[in-house]
Amino acid sequence: MRPAAGVKRSIAPHRTGKYFHGMKLPYPSAHDFPLILAPMAGVSEAPFRQICRAMGADVVLSEFLSSEAIRRRIRNTLEGAEFESCERPIGIQIYGADANAMAEAAALITAHYAPEFIDINFGCPVKKVVQRNGGSGCLRDMDLVERIIRAVIGATHLPVTVKTRSGWNDESRDPVSIALRMQDAGARAFTLHARTRTQMFSGKANWDEIARVVEALEIPVIGNGDIETAEDVVRLRAHTGCAGAMIGRGAFGNPWLFRDAQLLLAGGQRAPAPDAAERFGVALDHARLALRLQGDTRKTVIEFRKHFGWYTRGLHGASELRQRLFQVESMAEAEAIFLGYLDPLARVA
Ligand SMILES: Cc1cc2nc3c(=O)[nH]c(=O)nc-3n(C[C@H](O)[C@H](O)[C@H](O)COP(=O)(O)O)c2cc1C
Repeated sequence: MRPAAGVKRSIAPHRTGKYFHGMKLPYPSAHDFPLILAPMAGVSEAPFRQICRAMGADVVLSEFLSSEAIRRRIRNTLEGAEFESCERPIGIQIYGADANAMAEAAALITAHYAPEFIDINFGCPVKKVVQRNGGSGCLRDMDLVERIIRAVIGATHLPVTVKTRSGWNDESRDPVSIALRMQDAGARAFTLHARTRTQMFSGKANWDEIARVVEALEIPVIGNGDIETAEDVVRLRAHTGCAGAMIGRGAFGNPWLFRDAQLLLAGGQRAPAPDAAERFGVALDHARLALRLQGDTRKTVIEFRKHFGWYTRGLHGASELRQRLFQVESMAEAEAIFLGYLDPLARVA
């Protein structure tokens, strides 16, 4: 029976045990209820994925990669599919509106990178992508969606999963029908970011919709949208009965969210919040990984500035600190700023 909208539900007992195979994710995970780092262009790159895995994320995904660009062997795009073994289990996410290109991309990713799974992006709301029917643009043509899923499955032995939104717009909002179509086409897991494309990132993700999709599907459903705290993970699980939680923006500058959520899910207490020294330490570890994996260049540093900004959120004097960090030209400069902040004598000087 479906719960009335807004009524908090407990997890259906038959869906909590490890013996309920329908809910088992098609890739390995250290925990029964995996915490998954969301695919995020410009953020979920190898360095951040490694930091989040070390902090307790069970599974990570690449940023979305264009199937057309993979097919044409565009170097930048192929670099986005690279990862190190410590990141496993990992999914590589692809998008595109041409079923043949999607199949070719899936075959190439399988042969050259061998991730644990391939995820299809049916959720990206960006104009440039949806204009060519990519990402959530596909949701306007569910026959195309089905063709794409079948073509990708036919091109790889890896499990194929999907990630989507609740619909194109309010009028066509129907996540259960979308999910059933994707399941019928052979998707092995379904992630719902419970907003429409036209909502972009406004309003609230509708967790009741995630609960309805969980009720309707045989395959595992991963809940996504607006998880900001460890407590939110526990709430999302209780509210929807989902098989795992995907965390995006909440992890910006806060990979500790994975550690805290794992502790709460295991019935423990939240760890004390990291102090400034711990935050700076992880920020610098993250920065060093970026230099090693993305090249010791000015471009790497400039693209990293946003992470420094996120790591300082909430600290005393954060806005001044951020302003300075947004101008750094080298990681050594950032390190000096952190040391200056931590050393009271230097701060007075
Ligand atoms: C900067 C940014 C980049 C994103 N890039 C992708 C992407 O490449 N593929 C994808 O499926 N979703 C992408 N998303 C959506 C997120 O994966 C996620 O569905 C969304 O942010 C909602 O989750 P959250 O509230 O936990 O952030 C992106 C989101 C952000 C903020």
